[in-house]
Amino acid sequence: MSSIQESQIISALATVMEPDLGRDLITLGMIENIAIDDADNVSFTVVLTTPACPMKESIKQSCIDAVRAAVPEAATVEVTMDSKVTSSCSHHGKNGGHGHGGHGHNHEAHGGHGAPRKIELENVKNIIAVASGKGGVGKSTVSVNLAVSLAATGAKVGLIDADLYGPSIPTMFGLLDTKPELLDNKLIPIEKYGVKLMSIGFLVDSETALIWRGPMASSAIRQLITDVDWQELDYLIFDLPPGTGDIQLTLVQALALTGAVIVTTPQDVALADVSKAVTMFRKVEVPILGVVENMSWYELPDGTRDYIFGRQGGEKFAKANALPFLGAIPISSSIREGGDTGKPFIISNPDAPTSAAAKLVAGEIARQVSIRNAACDSN
Ligand SMILES: Nc1ncnc2c1ncn2[C@@H]1O[C@H](COP(=O)(O)OP(=O)(O)O)[C@@H](O)[C@H]1O
Ligand SMILES: [Mg+2]
Repeated sequence: MSSIQESQIISALATVMEPDLGRDLITLGMIENIAIDDADNVSFTVVLTTPACPMKESIKQSCIDAVRAAVPEAATVEVTMDSKVTSSCSHHGKNGGHGHGGHGHNHEAHGGHGAPRKIELENVKNIIAVASGKGGVGKSTVSVNLAVSLAATGAKVGLIDADLYGPSIPTMFGLLDTKPELLDNKLIPIEKYGVKLMSIGFLVDSETALIWRGPMASSAIRQLITDVDWQELDYLIFDLPPGTGDIQLTLVQALALTGAVIVTTPQDVALADVSKAVTMFRKVEVPILGVVENMSWYELPDGTRDYIFGRQGGEKFAKANALPFLGAIPISSSIREGGDTGKPFIISNPDAPTSAAAKLVAGEIARQVSIRNAACDSN
């Protein structure tokens, strides 16, 4: 028998704070499987709120330091890092009769305050909308690389391309001639690079989609969400059509979103548009997770940065609007080539600075989702 008590480990870990959630790991219920063997080897598991947690290593080290300091007689301290993604607040409390036990994958839930019913997917923990004030700023590029990065950390990820007039996910994933199968009246998403995909481009040719307007367009997009067998997902990334018109407004109102990510370039023109996106989300009370700045600079061969579109526009904009800044992605030919050739740059150039930047953005988004979700009691 070891002389070390489990309670000593618990009190040591009760001094380790989760930096974002502002409470200790024990209070947050993040410690599992504490074990102490006869040779005084201590082990336990830390269950994070996302596998993409940017603070994973520092939390791990803090745990080791705390146990070592409080229990110097421990021979070894072994920490296993695990995760269980938390669910969006929209899953909790606001919807009277929760349809557990039913066989539908989705159900409509009341949005509170007598608001219209919102589409909620029971097995999808978080829906993240990616929006921009206008087209061409890299919204789809950011969505794709966010989805692939999160999937690479081990999360279960889906991606919806809802751009009726210019679906890009079939091209960006090299799936131009792919058609999803239909099983029990549900579309089976196409899986590539660890991400479950659904695009309006898989279903209709662009000429057909072009003639759709208003309600037609909205109902087509709703089907991409509700008529798909997503199964269990930690994150469903929703690449919204560009802009802030009626279609976008209808969609963000109809969905039980965890939050929205706004993509912009540093240019002033883009920023004027991006204000409209912020206004739209605030109007319908969808939390804005933050701002991503794309095409931030061009890296010259000597390593210096050319700020082609101006400097830190996105960061300044985020600050001025009291929004989190989620990071900057530079201009790089590998990003464009990746999009054109159907291989996301994060897969084709995993070690490039652009990929590192995109991974940081993904981590920040996952982090903001965890912070949002911690604010609802049921998690
Ligand atoms: N950081 C970047 N560096 C180089 N090219 C980029 C970058 N981001 C996007 N692009 C390219 O710009 C074009 C528009 O990007 P896209 O993601 O389709 O924009 P949106 O979805 O906002 O219309 C695409 O050809 C894409 O490959
Ligand atoms: Mg796009």
